[in-house]
Amino acid sequence: MSFPHGFLWGASTAAHQVEGNNTTSDWWAREHGRLENSARVSEPSGDAADSYHRYPDDMRLLRDAGLTSYRFSLEWARIEPERGFVSRAQLDHYRRMIDTARDLGLTPMVTLHHFTNPLWFAQEIGWGNPLSVDAFARFTQTVLPILTDVELVCTINEPNMVATIMADSNNSFSGTGLPPGDPTITEHLISAHQFSVAILRSAGKKAGWSIATQDFQGEPGFEQAAEDFGRSREDVFLDASSGDDWVGIQAYTRTRIGADGPVPLAPDVETTLTGWEYYPKALEDGIRRSWERNGTPIYVTENGMATADDARRIDYTRGALEGVSRAMADGIDVRGYLHWSLLDNYEWGSYAPTFGLIGWDRETFERHPKPSLGWLGEVARRNGLGN
Ligand code: BGC
Repeated sequence: MSFPHGFLWGASTAAHQVEGNNTTSDWWAREHGRLENSARVSEPSGDAADSYHRYPDDMRLLRDAGLTSYRFSLEWARIEPERGFVSRAQLDHYRRMIDTARDLGLTPMVTLHHFTNPLWFAQEIGWGNPLSVDAFARFTQTVLPILTDVELVCTINEPNMVATIMADSNNSFSGTGLPPGDPTITEHLISAHQFSVAILRSAGKKAGWSIATQDFQGEPGFEQAAEDFGRSREDVFLDASSGDDWVGIQAYTRTRIGADGPVPLAPDVETTLTGWEYYPKALEDGIRRSWERNGTPIYVTENGMATADDARRIDYTRGALEGVSRAMADGIDVRGYLHWSLLDNYEWGSYAPTFGLIGWDRETFERHPKPSLGWLGEVARRNGLGN
């Protein structure tokens, strides 16, 4: 099973989940009980993986394994810690990250917004306010000068999660059952994306955003219910990706829909550390759904599994890649696969679910690459799946 020449092979991270000390963000305030109306999380992010300082080592490990691309996010809360104040030093920091990727021969994919907001934005504006659209457009303008030689830019990570789970800070990220998308937030996210795409394109970038595809599957007789369930939670965002340069697909598991909505998992179903069903085919299903709805070229921007059993991570990834290959054989334009995640990271409330190709010591931050990193690197070098 081989992939086309130039297919990107990489891994993804998000600033708040790996950098550490993102103290001017809404999530940090939430972790320390300082965000109004938000539920407590089980542990704070703290120093995370200290990738804010250790990113050159992290990127080098990724490159040395054989991967060709690194997706990471800029942290708006660091770049604009107070409304209207832009930190040049932080812009320089992210520019150095891009330089480091380039020097290592990696193709950077840069995300502008990955769940966290500056605390001022959350408190004074928020995605429910139409002013959010302008604020995000301005942020895009602010970072444009450091993106000179970055081609692939992801405006907003998983807007469907922002409009569902993140919209109400009482919702837990890895719980079951997804609330419907908030229509006002959805509208603002789509507008913010469109303005951001226009700005990025005027500077020659290839812009898109990344969607969490949920693989809603109707039980017999509940096919229409599954369609209805998916509309505000996924389809509206896939549809808004029509005409973009690319769309990012992020798939982990499926959700079966029956008479009472999502069907609880049977006790004998294999689950991951996030409690999700082990279901590698979710990626192929997400790719097919997106292609049918928008015909936009696809990058897999996240896919992986939270597990302490790294051999199972390899099985999962192989299964997912077989699905990518089947979709491509049917003519679907998939251009890259970026695994979630490069590092074990802060899983929005807890460090327990480990998604990383690389582990690290909580005291010393020493990196411990797992066999799955070498395995995926080999796939990348061969540009194909061996037997
Ligand atoms: C998010 C990541 C998250 C991952 C696993 C995606 O929804 O973009 O931030 O860690 O899934 O839960």
